[in-house]
Amino acid sequence: MRDPRRVGILISGRGSNMRALLEKASGYEIVLVASNNPDAPGIEWARARGVQTWSLASKDLAREDFDRKMSSALDDHGAGTVALAGFMRILSPWFIGEWRGRIVNIHPSLLPKYRGLDAHRRALAAGDPVTGCSVHLVTEDLDAGEVLGRVEVPVLAGDDERSLEGRVLEAEHLLYPKVLREFVRR
Ligand code: GRF
Repeated sequence: MRDPRRVGILISGRGSNMRALLEKASGYEIVLVASNNPDAPGIEWARARGVQTWSLASKDLAREDFDRKMSSALDDHGAGTVALAGFMRILSPWFIGEWRGRIVNIHPSLLPKYRGLDAHRRALAAGDPVTGCSVHLVTEDLDAGEVLGRVEVPVLAGDDERSLEGRVLEAEHLLYPKVLREFVRR
């Protein structure tokens, strides 16, 4: 039986949400940070702090082959929940089935608005006065699983993608640990 309070985080890059999940871990424990990019700055950060890490370059592997190796690493560390934090790779149906109902992700929009890439650009182009971020369950449909928590962030006059991303990221760092704490108890 997998213990949902033991969380593995998947990243591909910077890992600011990973840092927030680690620094605010309560009610759950981060047992592994895994990446499809061995050079992800977030992996270096985690390793330097004594967090268990696993990484493998995914680009030369078939999607499911990579996912099976990553799933084994998660099991080797006793993970029971998988938290995506800037993991820029579509998960295989096999992986989603294997971890069904136990994979969460953070997305920089008020879902169901702006699924997929470029959420900030699309919110600015639409002239939305408010945007935000959402934590949701991961299913086979991109960014379309059950929404577990959302927070609104105002779009300010003069905002560009960079300034908006920064303001939304601050909200992400508060929302994700809070929602994860509630999620692992259900
Ligand atoms: C965040 O905007 C998150 O919402 C999206 O990818 C970005 C990851 O940033 N899924 P970071 O690596 O956590 O800094």
